[in-house]
Amino acid sequence: MGLLVRELSLADFRSFERLTVAPSEGVTVLVGPNAAGKTNTVEALQLVTAGRSFRRPRPRDLVREGASSARAAARLEGDGRVVDVRCDVVDGRRQFSRNGKRCQAADLPESLMSVLFTPDDLDLVKRGASHRRDELDDFGRQANRGYANVLSAYTRAIEQRNRLLKDPMVDPSLLDAWDASVSLGGATLLEARLRLWGRLAEKVSAVYAEVSGGEELACSYGCTLGDEALGLDRDDLRELFAAALAERREEDLRRQQTCVGPHRDDVTFLIGGRDARSFGSQGQQRSVALALKMAEVELAAEILGSTPLLLLDDVMSELDDTRRDAVVRFVGRGIQTVITTTNLGYFSPDLLDDAEVVSFGER
Ligand SMILES: Nc1ncnc2c1ncn2[C@@H]1O[C@H](COP(=O)(O)OP(=O)(O)OP(=O)(O)O)[C@@H](O)[C@H]1O
Ligand SMILES: [Mg+2]
Repeated sequence: MGLLVRELSLADFRSFERLTVAPSEGVTVLVGPNAAGKTNTVEALQLVTAGRSFRRPRPRDLVREGASSARAAARLEGDGRVVDVRCDVVDGRRQFSRNGKRCQAADLPESLMSVLFTPDDLDLVKRGASHRRDELDDFGRQANRGYANVLSAYTRAIEQRNRLLKDPMVDPSLLDAWDASVSLGGATLLEARLRLWGRLAEKVSAVYAEVSGGEELACSYGCTLGDEALGLDRDDLRELFAAALAERREEDLRRQQTCVGPHRDDVTFLIGGRDARSFGSQGQQRSVALALKMAEVELAAEILGSTPLLLLDDVMSELDDTRRDAVVRFVGRGIQTVITTTNLGYFSPDLLDDAEVVSFGER
């Protein structure tokens, strides 16, 4: 079954001097007016589970104005265990700990990972490729500690190579050395990402069919190394990537950046064979985003053997009745879920009967 959040406590975190919330096993609805601190609470939950915040704040932004340090802590319980996870912001730095012992942000999802859905995510199909890559990588990083390591090693290698490409006096043999490490890191990341994407894509299509009443969705991975990369193992990917880097070096030097590799890949969604980005209606695009998030919850449960925490920030008001019902049915399967809203009118009396409702007053 895994761990559940039993208590979240905040001290000088964002707008809160002090806050304690005890979420239920099922659905918890945080209701309150604008600027009441609902998203701040969701952000704190994400921070102590995913080890990061979707707002990508500077650490000091997390500290309440006028205070010197901030704390977000959660008590997780389940399977006869209690785990305390915590993020302190001290001297402008984030410090994570588990059961009182310092740990890295990337260690936290091992205890409990989370899937967050915000109104921005509803536009995922339309947004730039980096958002879709981040979506996949943020999931991978939480579901698999190895993925997190591979991703950060590759990101560092690309940053280093790009720095060299900006140097007009760059020594080609130095670039050769970085090409070797970029192609090895890139092949390792690509192999892991393709494996993950294969499993996720299958689920996205299945959930989409359910949400849309039978429409066919195909999900494909757009690889800057070409479609031939898709079936290769890591060694062959490394060779293919190294050859592409060598071939494009002149162009990379001109553009002062690495133009090929998994940091430039994208994923595409096809509804009835047509690209949802240019042909899908807004409703269809939103259904794809919804299906992707639900698929992430399902896949996380499969990989980790326990259900992740689902955080829905302000999305209910953005969905029509059909999609809202799909969300309610989905979370009703026993997924610990925290939903924020300004208006309980979006929720059925049935849902509210079973849910824990926490009211946030005006500040
Ligand atoms: N470090 C901080 N110190 C003090 N206040 C902060 C800090 N960071 C954010 N805030 C305040 O928190 C409030 C925003 O809270 P939050 O985003 O959680 O609101 P919300 O309840 O989600 O509102 P909405 O319904 O509009 O989404 C803002 O008024 C903002 O000024
Ligand atoms: Mg909000």
